[in-house]
Amino acid sequence: MKKRILTWIKPTDSQIHLANYFGAVKPMIDLSKEFPDAEFFLFLAIMHGLTWLHDGKAIHDNSLNVLKIYMACGVDLSKFVIYNPADVPAHAQLNWVLGCITHMGFMERMHSYKEALDKGKAKEISVGVFTYPILMAADILLYDADVVPVGQDQKQHVEYARDIAQRFNNLFWETFKLPQPYIKPEVGTIIWIDWRKMSKSYNNYIWLLDDEKQVLKRVKQIATDTKTVEEPKDPDQCNVYALCKLFLTSDEDTSLRKKYQAGWLSYKEAKDYLFEKIMAFLKPIQERYAQISDQEIIDLMKKNAVYVNELANKKIAEVYKKVGFTL
Ligand code: TRP
Repeated sequence: MKKRILTWIKPTDSQIHLANYFGAVKPMIDLSKEFPDAEFFLFLAIMHGLTWLHDGKAIHDNSLNVLKIYMACGVDLSKFVIYNPADVPAHAQLNWVLGCITHMGFMERMHSYKEALDKGKAKEISVGVFTYPILMAADILLYDADVVPVGQDQKQHVEYARDIAQRFNNLFWETFKLPQPYIKPEVGTIIWIDWRKMSKSYNNYIWLLDDEKQVLKRVKQIATDTKTVEEPKDPDQCNVYALCKLFLTSDEDTSLRKKYQAGWLSYKEAKDYLFEKIMAFLKPIQERYAQISDQEIIDLMKKNAVYVNELANKKIAEVYKKVGFTL
């Protein structure tokens, strides 16, 4: 049996920036190469977005656009089954069943909830934020996922999914496979533009769909020290170099390092080079993006919904029968 690996796309914004690309999109594509024999289920975390975004148009539009960008980045459809859980009623059905066998205390220990408590007023946190890990467990358990690759922030959620699967199995007999969290290797923190991480709120981001003018503006924004042109420079102390490195072959990297160390490389030149490299990276993505229509994405989701519904319905039928719902 092929291993099933479950991963997701979270449409937090209408766009994807370079840090998202290197932190989420690329590792996901690389993972599919690392496990060539596995089956990858890739779902849109759209139902989860409603916990914090109450704007139907934004949820809809962000989701379509982010899916299009992922496709343009080269998600291989022969490896990834991409689907929308909102097309699969069994997610909400299993959510209820799991909720009924989960103790409040369990949810109260979840970091995501505790963080929300720290940030806001307890009474204003939605029930959805509180029970979010239950929906996540349903996302995972419906498909007998073997492995769920997560960062540290989501590890506790996958462990809860495992615990609740075990609890269900104990109460109602063997039903769910116990998922394994796979902790993704940390993508080293990349320092962007102004010595901070790239983020929409810091206004230092480069969207994958940005045009030359926008990219140039960001590249010009990069902070450098006050060394003169002729002075040798340490590439490892330079932000322009750190960003360049993401786009270079190892030969190009060696040659750029030498130029830094030799002196007579101005920051202006280094920035021009970086600009060129970023554009060369973005152009093919943007060209592919322009060729993908909303309808294509909608059709793909519809097609895959048939397949995943088949699996999910089978699982939920088994669950309903065991808990006594089937008369
Ligand atoms: N909670 C995840 C995030 O914030 C998204 C998510 C939803 C998820 N359901 C999941 C992750 C199931 C793993 C498994 O990014």
